[in-house]
Parts: sequence; structure tokens; C-alpha cells
Amino acid sequence: MSGRVLVTGGAGYIGSHTAQQLIDAGNDVVILDNLSNGDRSMAPDGARFVQGDLADRGLLDDILGSGVDAVLHFAGSIVVPDSVADPLGYYRNNTLNTHGLLQACIERGVDRFIFSSTATVYGDPASTPLRETDPTQPISPYATSKLMSEWMLRDTAAAHGLRYVVLRYFNVAGADLKGRRGQASRNATHLIKLAVEVLTGQRDRLSIFGDDYPTSDGTGVRDYIHVTDLANAHVRTLDHLMAGGASEVMNCGYGKGSTVRQVIAALECVANRRIPTEVAPRRPGDVAELVADVSRIREVLGWRPEHDDLELIVRTALDWERKRIRAS
Ligand code: UD1
Repeated sequence: MSGRVLVTGGAGYIGSHTAQQLIDAGNDVVILDNLSNGDRSMAPDGARFVQGDLADRGLLDDILGSGVDAVLHFAGSIVVPDSVADPLGYYRNNTLNTHGLLQACIERGVDRFIFSSTATVYGDPASTPLRETDPTQPISPYATSKLMSEWMLRDTAAAHGLRYVVLRYFNVAGADLKGRRGQASRNATHLIKLAVEVLTGQRDRLSIFGDDYPTSDGTGVRDYIHVTDLANAHVRTLDHLMAGGASEVMNCGYGKGSTVRQVIAALECVANRRIPTEVAPRRPGDVAELVADVSRIREVLGWRPEHDDLELIVRTALDWERKRIRAS
């Protein structure tokens, strides 16, 4: 079922992949992005692109008043250490902007909302895999800013009849299989992005942040999900809401973990080269293991990943980085 949708942050990494799939599925897509972290060239051609800020209420009213059926809200800041240094900036950009967007949706009668949340709302869990009903214990302003937005959605839905889906992303990685887009964000902090920067000569070595965690090889375990599968989960989520489906909170991952060393080994295998590494102290705020229980999203959406393959994830990330460098 197709409709007219607003994609905030549609020039960013996950937003742009999703916008492309929404267009391919026949939706009419409007992208709103202030390009603070996104890249205009990542926004798909078939979308109407509006450069502007979520805090611009007049602009929001114009867009939402033009017959929008649903909002997919990706825009936000995502770097944990930055959120520790500038909590109020994170609460403004993530929480307050979500508040303004929700307010505008209610006033303009837009009653379907998909929100990008994060596995980091679970904090440092006692055990994994994590279910959506497990306790949330944010340990950074970034996580809190996202969880506050989840709560605003819950309460707004109860008061105003809005239906929403919160998708809690685990570790999103990889790039479009056709090489059209990938992770471009400046000053990235993510493991796979940094590792491909080493392989493409932009960095000397990769730091392994801690090898004394209680995991199989001592390094952190994460549930890496290919961005194309995650984008597809959004398209299915939109179908769910358009068909009258109920509000949901759902994990997005594959339900299995890889260690930092396993990720490095997969990349070395794909690149056929060693990645120089050094063991560094644990990164503040990191936890030993985050792995999703994905039964809910499978049950509600019938979602089945198609790219559940660490080698494919790292190969597409490396291909994209090489392409990006050639083009710059
Ligand atoms: C990060 C964010 C998280 C966000 C998620 C998706 C941080 C601290 N966390 O998760 O809030 O929801 O991305 O955007 O920014 N690692 C190294 N060396 C590196 C980089 C990472 O060993 O140079 C390790 C980390 O310690 C961790 C794993 O690799 O064990 C994954 O790290 P990363 O890719 O940064 O993602 P998360 O921190 O899990």
C-alpha cells in the first residue's frame, strides 16, 4: 500500500537507503534534511528534497499540510561521546525536535509515525538477547534523548489516536548492493566504518576498545544488521501502519552477535589484507554485548532479512568506501 510520506534525515545513511526503497515501493517521498550530517547526493533522485530544519515550524506545517500520510523520523544526532559533552544539544536536536514534529503532526492530522530508536536504550543489560519488554536503562544523554522521544510517542498516541512504530536499531552497517549510497557521515565512530578507513589508507590502524570483556574472545559483541534489510523493515512497517496496524516497539537486528575481532577477520578476508590493530582501553559507555531478540518484528511484520551475512556487510561497506574515495 503506497502513500505520501515525509522522511526526516533522508540524506543520511539509514534515511537515504530507506527513502530509496520507499520510492521503489511506489510511495511519494518528501525528504526534509538540514544537511548537518547528511549528504545531498545520498538522497534518492525520485524524492522531493527540502533542505531545512526540523525546528522550522512553518516549514513543517507546509510539508505536513500537503497531504502527508505518514512520517518516518530519522533525523537526529547519534554520537554517544558528543552527547556526554553536549547533553542539552542532544536533548534539543533529538528530543525537542521530535516534540515539535509530533505537535505539528497532531495539528495537521498526520497520524502515522515511524521513529528511529536505538538498542542503546537498554543500557548495560544483565543478559542478551534483548526483548522489547526488557528494562530500559539509558547510560548516555544520547540514549536518554531517544528514550524520551519513545515515551512522548507513547503518550501522544494514547491522547490523540496517533499510531506509531518505534524501531530500535542494533548495529547498522554495510551499503547499498548496487553501490548507490553508503555511510558518508563525517567523523564516524563506528567500527566497520573506521576499519574500512584503515583499509583505504585514511587511517594507520584500528583501535580495539577493550579485549577483557566477558565474551568469547574478550572483545565487544554486537548484532550487525545490513542497512538494506533495515530499510526494508521500514517499508514493511509503513505497510503495517497504512493497513491499520497497531503501535509497536520492535528490535531490528539479526538476533546473533559478532565480536570486534570477528568483524576484523571478516574484513581482512574480504580485502585479502591485514588490518593493523592495537588494543586500547575500553571506550567509556561501551557495554560487553548487545544482541536482539527479533521474534517481535518477525511476528508482526513477517520481516525476514535477506542479507544476514557478515562478509556481505563488510564487503559492501568496503566497496562503498573505495567508491567514495575515488569520487572525492
Ligand atoms: C554505536 C553507538 C550507539 C548507536 C549505534 C548505532 C556509540 C558509542 N554507540 O553503537 O549509540 O545506537 O552505534 O548508530 O557511538 N569498536 C572498537 N574500535 C573502534 C570502534 C568500535 O573496538 O574503533 C568496538 C566498540 O567497542 C564496540 C563495537 O566495536 O564493541 C561496535 O562499536 P560501534 O560501531 O561504535 O557501535 P556501538 O558503540 O555498538
